[in-house]
Amino acid sequence: MEVQSIQVEKNTAPKEKPMTDQLEFGRAFTDHMFVMDYSDELGWHNAKIQPYQPLSIDPSSMVFHYGQSVFEGLKAFRTESGEVQLFRPTKNFERMNKSNERLVIPEIDEEFVLQALIKLVEIDKDWVPGADGTSLYIRPFIIATEPFLGVAPSRNYKFIIILSPVGSYYKEGIDPVKIAVESKFVRAVKGGTGEAKTGGNYAAGLKGQEDVAKDGYSQVLWLDGVDRKYIEEVGSMNVFFKINGEVITPALNGSILPGVTRDSVLQLLQHWNIPVSERRVSMQELADAHADGTLEEAFGSGTAAVISPIGLLCWDGKDYHINNGETGELSKKIYDTITGIQYGKLEDPFNWNIQV
Ligand code: COI
Repeated sequence: MEVQSIQVEKNTAPKEKPMTDQLEFGRAFTDHMFVMDYSDELGWHNAKIQPYQPLSIDPSSMVFHYGQSVFEGLKAFRTESGEVQLFRPTKNFERMNKSNERLVIPEIDEEFVLQALIKLVEIDKDWVPGADGTSLYIRPFIIATEPFLGVAPSRNYKFIIILSPVGSYYKEGIDPVKIAVESKFVRAVKGGTGEAKTGGNYAAGLKGQEDVAKDGYSQVLWLDGVDRKYIEEVGSMNVFFKINGEVITPALNGSILPGVTRDSVLQLLQHWNIPVSERRVSMQELADAHADGTLEEAFGSGTAAVISPIGLLCWDGKDYHINNGETGELSKKIYDTITGIQYGKLEDPFNWNIQV
């Protein structure tokens, strides 16, 4: 792919930044955004950083009708010395290209978009919050923009990156969340789009989530779409269980999102020589482990959620309290290590951080 230059138009009317102790997840946006267009004739072109603004696109744009879109989520962190660093951004752009392939969206040049992201974050560096538990959430996404109502891959796209200063994803912060096991709906099946990061997977999950929210559950735990027995993932996180000293996470089977934080947790556990396996795990196995007292901890992992302990699982009307509803020792250690590396407080033995 030909390397393009990036035009920069600075915002002449910068917004007031939100107070860092009042940051909600994903409500505030910075002063600039990155935008690039695609057409079959020109490929990816017209790369620019411009003031954050609404888009003007045709109502017949294919994304509105058939959902041809992909997105990513990653974060930038401010270190104690005031530097800004990105956490594993290359993994996100690599995954975006896998999602692109599944959604028949043209490949992006991963190195070019990384440089574009670094430039964008540099321009909006003052927006990276510094308070504990805060970060700059980065949302790259691609939408199909060809004005056409036929069902076919679009011939035009927009790749956009927006930035949002955020606090914790869950209102619980890093306290344990309550999760309900979904028994009526399924999120994805093998061969579908479950392992791609595309909006439709999340839209398909809303009904289940809404049904349990009124009973105080943060999200649902999805089971496999065929047997409805095996654990897949939570709405915005991969999941891990510590049973009898071993950490288990569902193996990537085609319908589970391959999380970057999931991969980081696996690397850390291997580094610490903690027994860990990626395999199929059923709800019945968890219930049995709960009954015999060997289900020690459960937690979710995700960019937005970081590490989120699970204190209660409700399955078929029965409550399974895990670790007395408290944050487990291992969950805490993983949280402290990942965030320690992200905020530059701990060594980065895996070279996960990229300086801005
Ligand atoms: C993330 O963790 O970055 C995600 O993309 C999940 C999202 C649904 C908040």
